[in-house]
Amino acid sequence: MKVIMDVDTGGDDAVAMLMAGHAPELELVAVTVVHGNAALPTTLRNTLATLEAGGLASVPVYAGAERALQDRLPPRGVTQGRELSLPDPVMIPQDKHAVDFLIEYYLGTTDETILMPIGPMTNIALALLQEPRLAERIPRIVMMGGAYAEGNVTPSAEFNIYADPEAARVVFRAGIPITMIGLEVTAQALVSLEDAERIRGLGTPASRIAADLISEEVQWFIDRLGWSEGQIYDACTVAACIAPDIVTTRPMHVDVELTGELTRGRTVCDISGHHDQPPNVDVGTGIDRERFISLLTRCIGAGS
Ligand code: RIB
Ligand code: CA
Repeated sequence: MKVIMDVDTGGDDAVAMLMAGHAPELELVAVTVVHGNAALPTTLRNTLATLEAGGLASVPVYAGAERALQDRLPPRGVTQGRELSLPDPVMIPQDKHAVDFLIEYYLGTTDETILMPIGPMTNIALALLQEPRLAERIPRIVMMGGAYAEGNVTPSAEFNIYADPEAARVVFRAGIPITMIGLEVTAQALVSLEDAERIRGLGTPASRIAADLISEEVQWFIDRLGWSEGQIYDACTVAACIAPDIVTTRPMHVDVELTGELTRGRTVCDISGHHDQPPNVDVGTGIDRERFISLLTRCIGAGS
């Protein structure tokens, strides 16, 4: 199965790329980069550094949007918005904007390539606004973002949606089949420091990098929230792509709140289905944690 990832790398995005890039079931066609966990120059540098150090330097990378469609609020990452501790990459991005790449790729292919945004959806929205025919060409979006209960940046909003609500609305309204891996799913896929050490024990460069990144992410949850384990949010999306039956989903109508004083960036989900609008999103409601951990381990371990 072919996949294009749209990332705002971040530790969990980096783990997700290592997982997808080494998964025998997936072909990582390209990575497009967006602002989010940090400003674009840092998310781009982190993306290139991860792919190069993780044995995935042949994957083309395209730099995309530097800011949200309406730059109303400063982005604030929920994971550490920082430069990852990886060697500076030699690899450079392609000489084409991510939005142009997405348009040209999807208009030019008959392949069923899944689009996987795991950051703010600015690049995807810009591509759809510039080329509305894209909505018929993208077979499915499997995305990390949103929540039908509680957010993680505000009580209402999850980070990736909050960082560009206008973009998320464009994507949710486009008519593309969408699987939403929101906080209700990622909170059920907790990863421990012991899991990270088991991954390190696989002994490949990708497994050592992933183990370091996972431990740093998990430690953030331990130190900042007092949890004993942590969320590697974006890796859940890769798992849902490889093994869709690992997550349980429910079709719901989903839209994004733009104007609420307290609720901007909320994914408003018709959970009961009683509100008359047809479902547009398969919303994740659960995940098999054991299968998730073993899939994460197996995929990262498949790298040389
Ligand atoms: O809310 C979690 C999301 O925000 C993840 O994608 C993380 O990388 C950050 O972008
Ligand atoms: Ca992310």
